[in-house]
Formats: sequence, structure tokens, C-alpha cells
Amino acid sequence: MTPILSRAQGSLRHFLSLDDLRPDEIRALLETSLELKAAPRHPASPLAGRVLALLFRKSSTRTRVSFEVGMHQLGGHAIYLADRDSQLGRGEPVSDTARVLSGYVDAIMVRTFAHAEAEELAEHSHVPVINGLTDRFHPCQLLADLLTIRECFPEVADGWGGMSVAWLGDGNNMANSWINAARILGFELRLAIPEGLDPDPETLALARAAEAQGGGRVILTRDPAEAVAGVRVVTTDVWASMGQEGEAQAREAQLRPYQVDGARFREAHPDAIFLHCLPAHRGEEVTVDVIDGPRSRVFQEAENRLHAQKALLLHLLTQGVA
Ligand code: CP
Ligand code: NVA
Repeated sequence: MTPILSRAQGSLRHFLSLDDLRPDEIRALLETSLELKAAPRHPASPLAGRVLALLFRKSSTRTRVSFEVGMHQLGGHAIYLADRDSQLGRGEPVSDTARVLSGYVDAIMVRTFAHAEAEELAEHSHVPVINGLTDRFHPCQLLADLLTIRECFPEVADGWGGMSVAWLGDGNNMANSWINAARILGFELRLAIPEGLDPDPETLALARAAEAQGGGRVILTRDPAEAVAGVRVVTTDVWASMGQEGEAQAREAQLRPYQVDGARFREAHPDAIFLHCLPAHRGEEVTVDVIDGPRSRVFQEAENRLHAQKALLLHLLTQGVA
């Protein structure tokens, strides 16, 4: 198994954003993911006796199932806790929940609204906390997306500098995570986002500062054609994220020009792939011909959640030694 270097061997590490991993760790984690994908049922049960708590304050299909299956395949166990069934959902403080769960489990995954809540959980937890999506970031999804790019464009194993990605749509948690990925790995990211739905300013500022020192290029434009022209990866996400359902109608009017349809997708490089974290709304952010078309890799991407998260769990719980 490819060893992943740890920033602080033996000390507690969380995964709240991609910044919790160094660039070399992300690259190594992708290689481990490929090895795990080639042999999914790990004979050595490296996480035997280990338990992961899954705290969900929002809905999920992929994140829940991929973490549960991943723990099982590594010999460990996962416990699913939704707001509906937990005291957290009835108002028990996050800090108390963190302390209590730390006494039972080896890691906690949390999907919640405010990113600050995931940070608070990590602050009071004695075990690693993994961000399974907050309003600000979705780093586990980015690991799967990067893995999909690594599979489709193997040349990135030698460096991400030649990669180019276009993001069309809302400046949401996925857009913020793509900005982090571009900054950390040093690829070009062109975001086409309408005014008023811009990504997190702090995340963008960090990318701009890194760019000034020769890091990845992050371009924010209002023009979807400018973003897509010649890129290798086109990606988007829903127009109203979980918690924004009430804004759906207003957002639709704003975001309609940012739809990825066949004509827009053809403006990308001829070998470009289409990615979407899913769930998708066909006919809104993406048309059927693109998401169900020959260049779509969305189901490979969804499967890769499993393989990337298994590598992450090994990294956080065993320093990558499997
Ligand atoms: N992409 C993703 O996180 O999917 P779920 O909401 O189904 O977990
Ligand atoms: N941006 C979406 C991603 C869902 C996986 C949301 O937060 O609802």
C-alpha cells in the first residue's frame, strides 16, 4: 500500500477542508485510492475494531453509503445518526456530542449546515472529524473528483499544472472546494458565476494570494463561454443547495445562462469530461445529452467516493499503513 506521509505522525488530524492535507498527501492519497479500487475487499482488515460515527443533519445517499461500505470493506464498522434520532437534533450542544462520541468511536464524519459547527465538533473531539459536507466545503467529494481526473488524465500523476477545469453555476460549497483544489494542486480553474452568487471571499482571496506566488490560476468570470473554452473538465452543481430550497425560483432565473448544455460543452477541449457531484437536476444546471452523454464521468465519480474515502480513513486512522 502506498504510504502517505503524515504532517504530524501520531497526532490527531481532522479533515474539514482540503487544506488539512498537504499537496503531496493528496497526491499519495489518490494513488492509494487507485490501489484500493483495484482490490476493494482488503484482506488484512486494517480497520478491524474501529468505528466511525456518521452524523447527518442533511440528507445523503452517496456520502452515507460510501462511508458505511468503506468502513465495512476495511474491517471496521459505521454508525449512522440522523438529527431525527439523535439528541443533537433536539439541541444537545455540539461540544457535548463531540466529547461523548469521542469516548465511543474512532472517528466522526459530520454533514451539517454551518461550517463553524463542524469546526466546533473538531475542537471538542478527541478523534478525527471528517467533513461530509458543510455549507462552505465538500472536501470528500473533491477527493473523488480529483481521483476521477487522475483516472481519465493519467498525466496528472506527474503534475497538475496542465489541468484546466471550468465551474459553471452557483458559488457554493463545491465551488469553494474546487478553488481550494486548484490552489493546492496548482491547476487552472475558471469559474463562471453570476453576480451575487460568488464563492466564499476568503477562499478566493487565499487562491489569489497563492497565484501571486506562482500557484494555480483561479479565474472568476460572469461569462460561461470564457470559462469553458478549451478546458479538459467541465463541472457544475445544483442551483439551490440543501437549505436553499426557498430561493430556488430566484436562483433559477439567475443561473439559467450558466446551464451546461451540449453546445456549451462542445466549447471545451474535444476530450473534455463532464463531472457533477450528484444529485443532479436534469434540465436545470445540466442537460440530459451532457450528463448522460459519452463524455460524462458522473457515475465513475460517484463510485470514487468509496475508494477515496477508504484511503482517507486509512490515512487518518492508521497513517496510511494498511
Ligand atoms: N455528492 C454527495 O455528497 O451526494 P449525497 O448528498 O448523496 O451524499
Ligand atoms: N451543493 C450541494 C451538494 C450536494 C452534494 C448541496 O450542498 O446541497
